[in-house]
Amino acid sequence: LAPSVPKLAQPAGTPLVHSSLPCYRKSRSCSHLASASSTAPGSTTMKPQPLLTNFIQSKEEYDALYARSIADPASFWGDVAEQFHWEKKWDPDHHSFNFDVTKGPINVEWFKGGFTNICYNALDRHVMTGHGNQHCMLFEGNEPGSDGAMTYTQVLDEVCRLANWMKAQGIGKGDCVAIYMPMVMQLPIAMLACARIGAVHSVVFGGFSADALAGRMEDCKARVLLTCNGGMRATKKIELKQIADQAIEMCASRGHTVDSVLVFANHKDGVAGAEAAGTPFTQGRDAWWQPTLAEFPALCDVAWVPAEHPLFLLYTSGSTGKPKGVLHTTGGYMVYAATTTKHAFQLQPGDVFWCTADCGWITGHSYLAYGPLLNRAVSVVFEGVPTHPTPARSWEIIDKYQVKQFYTAPTALRSLMRSGDEWLSSTSRQSLQVLGTVGEPINPEAWHWFHDLVGNGRCPVVDTWWQTETGGHMILPLPRAWPAKPGSATLPFFGVEPVILDDKGVELQGECEGLLMMRRPWPSTLRSVYGDHKRYEENYFGPYPGYYFTGDGARRDKDGYYWITGRVDDVINVSGHRIGTAEVESAIAAHHDCAEAAVAGYEHPVKGQGIYAFVVLKEGVVPNDQLKKEMWTNVRTTIGAFAAPDVIHWAPGLPKTRSGKIMRRVLRKIAGGQENELGDTSTLADPSIVRQLIETRN
Ligand code: WT7
Repeated sequence: LAPSVPKLAQPAGTPLVHSSLPCYRKSRSCSHLASASSTAPGSTTMKPQPLLTNFIQSKEEYDALYARSIADPASFWGDVAEQFHWEKKWDPDHHSFNFDVTKGPINVEWFKGGFTNICYNALDRHVMTGHGNQHCMLFEGNEPGSDGAMTYTQVLDEVCRLANWMKAQGIGKGDCVAIYMPMVMQLPIAMLACARIGAVHSVVFGGFSADALAGRMEDCKARVLLTCNGGMRATKKIELKQIADQAIEMCASRGHTVDSVLVFANHKDGVAGAEAAGTPFTQGRDAWWQPTLAEFPALCDVAWVPAEHPLFLLYTSGSTGKPKGVLHTTGGYMVYAATTTKHAFQLQPGDVFWCTADCGWITGHSYLAYGPLLNRAVSVVFEGVPTHPTPARSWEIIDKYQVKQFYTAPTALRSLMRSGDEWLSSTSRQSLQVLGTVGEPINPEAWHWFHDLVGNGRCPVVDTWWQTETGGHMILPLPRAWPAKPGSATLPFFGVEPVILDDKGVELQGECEGLLMMRRPWPSTLRSVYGDHKRYEENYFGPYPGYYFTGDGARRDKDGYYWITGRVDDVINVSGHRIGTAEVESAIAAHHDCAEAAVAGYEHPVKGQGIYAFVVLKEGVVPNDQLKKEMWTNVRTTIGAFAAPDVIHWAPGLPKTRSGKIMRRVLRKIAGGQENELGDTSTLADPSIVRQLIETRN
């Protein structure tokens, strides 16, 4: 498949392209843009020189631009934002920006007063400048040979049909729509359709259980669910619709109603045959995606929204309590996601870009859906897994689509590395230009394997450190601008000012190690925790007032490079999936035979971290494998299979201080087999418990 097809029939209803007109003017006559009012004050007429249009060539160039981005973030990012379509520009004074995080109430604002639409910037803009026939997404199914592709025009059409369907369900600006789908092109399409009408999407990873989906739908009060009959992952069929139905029932039993469900038929047995093939279907509530959307027009007005209009929620785990609905807004997120995508990967329009993350995580939001499309790249959507049918699959896909930038997780690399180098030999990977990693620190061995073997030593490896909350890359080596060091994410992106604090909150200078903070907000800072702004202020800006607290530790070396040392809170990172220990603990403790449970992460050769559960059984309960299985199942059904413990240790008790607080440091050391490094345990109520725990370890 070539990245851009020469000619495709223009589907009916597609606006004609007049490529001589600049897009912001053409928008006036475009039928996709009925509300593009010509009276919008401040509409773009004379554009200042946009910033960051070219790739960074050297450390010197970076240093100069970085200094400017820190000295005056508003003007810096204002100049970067010139590259996007703003239906109305923000007011060019400082009232459009609020970076004050020194005291509550915290209300981060970027480009206030501006109006835009991220879907318009990701799709219409390219179609209107004559690129409608370029591929937008390439789809690779679970089985080799099952594939597909959509052009920008085709994606825009489908987005519009879906947006119109949602409008017909009563969805409008600010309404939350839940999305629970496997990795098919319709997943990014669903996100874009929400953005087009100003609805707020909440994508729930397809690996989450019915319980987890229900909790998220309830929290954001989603009345509409976009889902799929099912998906295949290697040889396993995932019955998404069945799980979705269970979740809807759970919601109903607690008083929340999901009114409309649109079901994409992903299998051959879909559409007409689906019911017969066993997909549960509720008349009046459910509709099949394909035949339904065919009835809706492929034109839909863009809803121009304020820069600070909510774009999406994404639930993520913290150290305590329920997962938090991280809220991102439109303008700052758009500018930051697009700009980091471009510079991290030296991405040019038309490049075939493959990010292996699922859209259920932030990486899929920023670097599979929005970032690449805002840059008019061709984004690869892969439904399968890298080891199916063989560990050569990723390399075959790279050759098949001539992928230029490949962005994946260290855990995937480690697992492929273990399968043996021979799986690389039947492919060339000559198309590759930049390699990226995300999710956890990359160990030097995996870094070298990626760089030397996968990239044939030709491609820079970009280790990107960031978080769901940051919306985009924060610390990363810009390719070819300065030397990487395997295992270090190196230097901050523009506008990002990392600070290392000791535990008393004192800023450390030069070479040091401590807590990683950010001095001021960047454009895609999370704006709130949905429904709980106080939790947002306390969690992120409370621990050390004046700074954003990342939850990570870091070391700064003599060259100023940052090395992430991992979470300093009770969050563990399993195969790049973020899991709160408290969530796993409460799932286990829900078992009637469990008295108490505590969970710790331990170093795992492939997953980065594994989950180790210490379980204290109730008096008189005899431990057995059946019990283990039941507790394990509890975690799978309340969270998802990916959060199931690797080890369950029948513990005689937990190490607690006299005030009853679990000494987690001790549990981490025991889980990791580092019993020689336990440190001071004299403050434990019963210090002998440590020896008992070591003795009972399996
Ligand atoms: C946590 C955020 C960012 C998208 C994927 C995960 C860890 C992430 C790196 C990296 C070392 C990393 C941190 C961070 N992390 N990238 N390159 N090097 N650690 O997003 O689920 O919000 O998790 O992942 O601990 O806090 P997330």
